[in-house]
Amino acid sequence: MSTEPVYQKCLDPDCGATQEMRVATFTCPKCGGLLDVAYDWERLPPPRSLREFEAKWSQRTDPIAFSGVWRFRELLPFADRDEILTIGEGQTILQRADGMANRVGMKQGCLFMQYEGMNPSGSFKDNGMTAAFTHARQTGARRAACASTGNTSASLAIFCSATGLMRGIVFIGSGKISYGKLAQALDHGALTIQIAGDFDDAMERVQQVASRLGVYLVNSINPFRLEGQKTVMYRVLEALAWEPPDWIIVPGGNLGNSSAFGKAYMELRELGLVKKVPRLAVINAGGARTFDELVNKRGLTWNGGRFSRAAVNSYYAELDAAKSRANTIASAIEINRPVNLPKALRAIDVMNGVVRMASDQEIMDAKALVGAGGLGCEPASAASLAGLIQLREQGVIAPSDRVVCILTAHQMKDSAATVAYHSSDPDNFQQVLGVRGVKRASHANRAVQVPNELEAIVRSIELYS
Ligand code: F0G
Repeated sequence: MSTEPVYQKCLDPDCGATQEMRVATFTCPKCGGLLDVAYDWERLPPPRSLREFEAKWSQRTDPIAFSGVWRFRELLPFADRDEILTIGEGQTILQRADGMANRVGMKQGCLFMQYEGMNPSGSFKDNGMTAAFTHARQTGARRAACASTGNTSASLAIFCSATGLMRGIVFIGSGKISYGKLAQALDHGALTIQIAGDFDDAMERVQQVASRLGVYLVNSINPFRLEGQKTVMYRVLEALAWEPPDWIIVPGGNLGNSSAFGKAYMELRELGLVKKVPRLAVINAGGARTFDELVNKRGLTWNGGRFSRAAVNSYYAELDAAKSRANTIASAIEINRPVNLPKALRAIDVMNGVVRMASDQEIMDAKALVGAGGLGCEPASAASLAGLIQLREQGVIAPSDRVVCILTAHQMKDSAATVAYHSSDPDNFQQVLGVRGVKRASHANRAVQVPNELEAIVRSIELYS
C-alpha cells in the first residue's frame, strides 16, 4: 500500500501491486496488467454533496473552474492547480432529444443526448487528454504519443499545439482514418506516422515505441486519461439536477469511456454521493464485436477481477487463425483488441450493464436520425442510438426510462460517410461508401438535381417542400 494519497494500483485483486503517481509506464510493475488511479479519500476529502459543485458556476473566469473537467477536480484530485493543463475542454451539454424520442418509441422528455462533439477538437477525447497532459507535465515528459483511429490523435495534436509544451507523435493505420481527423493531426503539427496496418497493429507498436524511447503514452490504457473521462458522467448528472438517469448508452471501441463511466459511478457510490447507479449499455459495431462476443456468447464476467483471461486469449487466437480484422464504417471503433477490456467488465458489473452490437446499416440509419433530430455525429457515435433502438425493441428499455446516449464526436469528423449515405442510391452504396454492410439509406435526404432554369427550380421546390 502506498503512503501517498494518490497512487496507481493494479486492477488484478490477486496482484494488487501499486506504483507511484508520477510514473508513466501505465502497466503493473509486477504482473503487466492495467492500472487504476487510486485515491486515499480520507486525506483528499471529496465534497459532501454533488450540489457543492454548483459554486463553480459563478467562477467561470477562472480557467480551472471553467473547464468541464476540472470544475470536478475534487473527484480526480491528482494535480495541483498550477500543474493543470486546460484548453477549455468539456463545455458540453445534455440535449433533450424529443424528436429522436418520437422516432424510437420513447416518451417525450425521456431521451437525452450528451453531445461531446462540442469539445475543442470535436470529440470526447479532450476530456481525457487534459488529464493525461496534466499528468505528462507532472512526469516531466517532452514528447507524447498515441495510436489512433483519428480522434485521439486530433486531440493530442490540438493539446500539443495549443499548449506548446510537448511534441505530439501519432500512429495511424493506413487508409483507416477519415479526412476530417487526419486533417486535424496534420494541421496542428503532430508528427504523423502512418503504418501499414490497422489500429490494433498501431496500438501494439506505439506501446513498444513509448517504452523504448520514453515517450509519454496518451491512449486510454493510460489511467489518467480515464480520470478525465469520468467527468462526462458528472456533467450528465449536473444537467439532470444530480438525479441519475436510468440508462447510459455509449459506443464501445477501446472501451475507455465505458471503463471511465464505471469507475465514476463506483467512486460516487463508495463516497455516498449518489443513491442510484444508472445501467450501462455498451454498443460495439458488428464488424468489431469483441466485447459483445466475449460477454454475450462466451459468458465473460468481471468476477471480482478474476475474469477468465483464457477466454479472452482463446478468442484472440481464433481471430488470428482466421486472419480476421476489424471492419466497420464506424472507423473510430474499428478495434478488435480493446485495451480496456478488464475495466469495461468491471463497469458492466458496477452499472448492471449490457452489451450489444449494431450493424453498419443500423449505425448509419441511426446516424441519419441523429442528424434529422437536430444534432450531428460521426458514424461511431450513432452506435449509441442504434443500441437504444435495439434495446427498445427487445423491451430491455421502457418508453418512460430516462436514457442518455453519448454522442462521442462531431458530424464534421467524417463528412464523407454522411454525404455518401444521403447521396447514394441503394444499388451503388457499396461503390460510393466502400463498405459492404450498408445496403439501404432508409433516411436518405438526397440532393435534387435540376437544370439551371428558374421554372424548373421553382417546380422542384413546389414538388418537394
Ligand atoms: N466514438 C468515437 C467518435 C471515437 O473516436 C472512439 C474511439 C469511440 C467512440 C470509442 O471509445 O475507445 O472509449 O470505447 N476512438 C479512439 C481513437 C480509439 O483513436 O480516436 P472507447
